[in-house]
Amino acid sequence: MTSKALLAATALAAITLSLPATAAELTVGFSQIGSESGWRAAETSVSKTEATKRKVTLKIADAQQKQENQIKAIRSFIAQGVDAIFLAPVVSSGWDAVLKEAKEAKIPVVLLDRDIDPSGKELYLTAVTSDSVHEGAVAGEWLAKTVAGKACNVVELQGTVGASVATNRKKGFDSAVAKNANLKVVRSQTGDFTRAKGKEVMESFIKAEGGGKTICAVYAHNDDMMVGAIQAMKEAGLKPGKDILTVSIDAVPDIFKAIAAGEANATVELTPNMAGPALDAIMAFKAKGTVPPKWIQTESKLYTAADDPQKIYDSKKGLGY
Ligand code: AHR
Repeated sequence: MTSKALLAATALAAITLSLPATAAELTVGFSQIGSESGWRAAETSVSKTEATKRKVTLKIADAQQKQENQIKAIRSFIAQGVDAIFLAPVVSSGWDAVLKEAKEAKIPVVLLDRDIDPSGKELYLTAVTSDSVHEGAVAGEWLAKTVAGKACNVVELQGTVGASVATNRKKGFDSAVAKNANLKVVRSQTGDFTRAKGKEVMESFIKAEGGGKTICAVYAHNDDMMVGAIQAMKEAGLKPGKDILTVSIDAVPDIFKAIAAGEANATVELTPNMAGPALDAIMAFKAKGTVPPKWIQTESKLYTAADDPQKIYDSKKGLGY
């Protein structure tokens, strides 16, 4: 073992020894971003269910989209002496100072659904996330396959500026565009992961693109923005899913409703169950000192009209979205 690895193992053992032995005694503080999307609402709801299943006390702090509120919540969790902190970081930078405080207090931190900058790698125990570059690539490859070589101007609705998932979903989609000369992203702007903003930005894209005539497809970094964009297309007299193709990410029930109605074409699933694997990792870490892998990757599956969207809608609609 190198001296660096030995130091890390000693630090981890110190954290483990200072913590309760059974799940029933565990209290986890979760700094959640807010409720900007159906997916986020489902993640909050599923997190509560998963904690209850494991008899873990979960304290959720809603940051209303503000990093400063997340930092305050983390400091409050540290002051309360929680056993672990879950963090869904609204943006990827600016976490080093507060996460160092958590580390000094020997409280392990688990990232949920978004990443932080590499400078913070040593400051958290594990991250439960999807491969968001891959999600963007899956969306882009679906579009390339669907238009089959035909020239296609794409407008892109980006997620929150500075969020790892927005940066990565753009990067992944751009990689598919780079491989397919017929695809071109002609406009790209943030819709902040909300329906209202997605609609507003899509309205401006439609105006700028001859009433939508020069748009072949919309790529949205989440389904909620796409649901807003679908509304904008309909109000402009366009047929979403036919005149303009759609591909987005999350797999929320409303997008399946739109796919079933022929108004949307494809979505890439992001599971709202990030807390289940995170709680299992923390419980094993506390009970036996088991160090989880640095990245617990969740699946990213593509769904289209071929996947019985009505059935998926029915199965998902009660899950807190
Ligand atoms: O970090 C995950 C993203 O955050 C989801 O795709 C989006 O809906 C949410 O706001």
